[in-house]
Amino acid sequence: MRVDIISIFPEYFAPLDVSLMGKARDRGILDIRLHQLRDWARDIHKTVDDTPYGGGPGMVMKPEIWGEAIDAVVAQGRPEGDVSVPPRMIVPTPSGRPFTQEVALEYAREPWLLFTPARYEGIDSRVMAEYGSRLRVDEVSIGDYVLAGGEAAVLVIVEAVGRLLPGVLGNACSVSDDSFAPGAMANLLEGPVYTKPPVWRGREVPEILLSGHHGKIARWRRDEAFRRTLEKRPELLARLDSGTLDAHDRRVL
Ligand code: ADE
Repeated sequence: MRVDIISIFPEYFAPLDVSLMGKARDRGILDIRLHQLRDWARDIHKTVDDTPYGGGPGMVMKPEIWGEAIDAVVAQGRPEGDVSVPPRMIVPTPSGRPFTQEVALEYAREPWLLFTPARYEGIDSRVMAEYGSRLRVDEVSIGDYVLAGGEAAVLVIVEAVGRLLPGVLGNACSVSDDSFAPGAMANLLEGPVYTKPPVWRGREVPEILLSGHHGKIARWRRDEAFRRTLEKRPELLARLDSGTLDAHDRRVL
């Protein structure tokens, strides 16, 4: 997957060199390209923002600079040289649609993502309108809080999407067992996990996990997922698809 990120802080993305994402890049699974937005600024001060029309606090990012930057990156085309498939443009903003595991899976199927993280009060809205008529543009929020800029949101999204790409995780099963994974884990939180030693500070690992009985262990894990979801995110249980519940699930609930 190719990922382009246009930002006034390209250095913010250094963590993408580390751990799983770093390895995915080394192995050529993730092709991440960082671009400095100010490279497209026209004045000596490399200004990228201006005061908002209508007044109010803060500054708004200028449309011409974003427009030229996005045009230039899109014109570079895909690495294979196929310019017929434009990128999916993702604009992080607290007023966007919620980013969920389902959206992460949707993005993981795309060959090319273009992120345009904003600072200040955001990007002039005409930029999203302009590209919305040419590319697929998603305004996406990673949660109901306001960050200092969209860069941290891009890190979150790239990591959530990157780990879903084939060959990134050692064990593909860990993706289907994830909290929120579609299928059996849809709208469920993953339950507790344990490793050796069997007793630590007097606390024992649940006996069932040492039994070697895979059927019973799977059942126990599912029950724990229900318990944890009920305790921490009861509103998720209302969204459970009743078609995925068996008789035992119904008793636990
Ligand atoms: N930029 C600022 N806050 C954000 C949020 N919650 N999600 C995505 N982008 C943001």
